Amino acid sequence: MKRRLVFRVNERLVDAEAWEETLALDWLRRELGLTGTKEGCREGDCGACLVLLGERGEAGPVWKAVPSCLLALGELDGRHVVTIEGIAAAGLTPVMEAFLDQGASQCGFCSPGFIVALTAFLVEGRIDPVRTLVSIEGNLCRCTGYGSIRRAADRLTKDFADLPRDLGARLAVLGKRGVLPPSLAALMTSLPEPGSRPAAAPEGLNLGGGTDWFVRNPDPEPGTGVAFTDRQAGLGRIERTGDFLSVGAAVTVRAFFEDLLVRAHAPGIEAFEAQMASLPIRNRATLAGNVVNASPIADMTALLLALDARARLRSASGTRDLPLADFFLGYKKTALRDGEFLEALLLPAAAGPVRLNFEKVSKRESLDIATANTALALRTEEDRISWARLSVGGMAPVPLAARAASEYLVGKIPDAATAREAARLALQDCSPLSDVRGSAGYRTRLLERLVLAHFVRLFPDRGLLEEFWP
Ligand SMILES: Cc1cc2nc3c(=O)[nH]c(=O)nc-3n(C[C@H](O)[C@H](O)[C@H](O)COP(=O)(O)OP(=O)(O)OC[C@H]3O[C@@H](n4cnc5c(N)ncnc54)[C@H](O)[C@@H]3O)c2cc1C
Ligand code: FES
Ligand code: FES
Repeated sequence: MKRRLVFRVNERLVDAEAWEETLALDWLRRELGLTGTKEGCREGDCGACLVLLGERGEAGPVWKAVPSCLLALGELDGRHVVTIEGIAAAGLTPVMEAFLDQGASQCGFCSPGFIVALTAFLVEGRIDPVRTLVSIEGNLCRCTGYGSIRRAADRLTKDFADLPRDLGARLAVLGKRGVLPPSLAALMTSLPEPGSRPAAAPEGLNLGGGTDWFVRNPDPEPGTGVAFTDRQAGLGRIERTGDFLSVGAAVTVRAFFEDLLVRAHAPGIEAFEAQMASLPIRNRATLAGNVVNASPIADMTALLLALDARARLRSASGTRDLPLADFFLGYKKTALRDGEFLEALLLPAAAGPVRLNFEKVSKRESLDIATANTALALRTEEDRISWARLSVGGMAPVPLAARAASEYLVGKIPDAATAREAARLALQDCSPLSDVRGSAGYRTRLLERLVLAHFVRLFPDRGLLEEFWP
């Protein structure tokens, strides 16, 4: 849809009538001539197109690196984009200097993306060596071999270890130390008012982060008509409502893993974040999009199935809830009716926290989609399993809730025999295919081992590792 959009790009305020579904990458390059934002893969894999996006958080603006090749122009309304040109107006910044000194740039095509990612890392201000590497996990370089880039990133971790916690104070320091032009840093503490107001309920094709949709629709026709779930009040929240933790449709993967209610419900869940895409993708991707996309290997869906999630679907006539397991009707076919959208995912929380494990095998160790994935959530009482949910991905046309195995586990002692029987039962519901990621036989064997791995990790004191992998 064509709408009035008001946003800031670097230090310039833009007020334009524009097609919302246009890709931000194309618009920045073609309309504003900001060609430092590179087009590499155009599908979220390489990081060459990263920009810094400032949006409203609970306590003021928050800044994140996001891929502009999967970002709709309409999403910029009321927001602020900083491109490599905005950063470079500061001259040779400390991030660029670290790259030069370490020889971390050769052909230079990837460099703007790396500089934006590391500048975003400094603006976010949570400085530690692990986070530094996480901040560049979505960037590919075909020339350097990464050693020099890592050294440059390490130097920044050391040089900026003492950044203030407060955003305004931090931006002032970053302006003073030349990471950003001081005039731009001053603008980054507030956001412009949006030009158009969203409708009360999403109209048209609902989009979350666009990280699936834009990969399938890299050149959307003007007039496609999209509605952004993150423009709807309340859909970006995780909150306790009665017996449930309600995860709104616009909650991103990153926000989910960082949320304290979620962490209290499934202690240790944050350990699985790194297995889902890269930070720039997690900054945009929603759990709702992961579910509605209905891929049989969707990682967040596997976690949600094990957490026994229910899907709340809204239409003009009201809401209906259904178990997430019943949402998937066939390959990429869901229970969503015309005019309905997924409003929230509800996690039953009345019975208290769960113990959770997630296993994923992919051809590449990280930043790859799964050959197979599985999650197991359970509760125990006096050495016996009192409640369990096992999910399985990549073993059928839909993500599966392994019901027989889950039911079997209740009342059992979590020993080797129990684990083996759960693995056997999990396989009963499966009908794996052979594809480029693995043959049906390989997947079957894999699932069996992954179910055993759940027990090894959830019950580390039972000697199961030695039993299963002598
Ligand atoms: C580089 C890259 C790496 C990736 N790695 C992984 C990975 O490791 N694991 C993994 O599981 N996935 C991965 N993905 C896939 C994708 O990021 C996830 O599936 C993500 O969660 C999709 O969420 P989204 O908000 O971006 O969905 P969108 O693209 O916005 O939407 C996906 C579909 O759902 C519909 N939709 C979205 N929200 C709603 C709603 N509330 N109601 C109704 N319909 C809705 C949209 O119309 C669209 O058809 C990757 C993608 C990329 C580009
Ligand atoms: S162009 Fe590769 S991530 Fe956008
Ligand atoms: S320097 Fe050439 S791609 Fe990184």
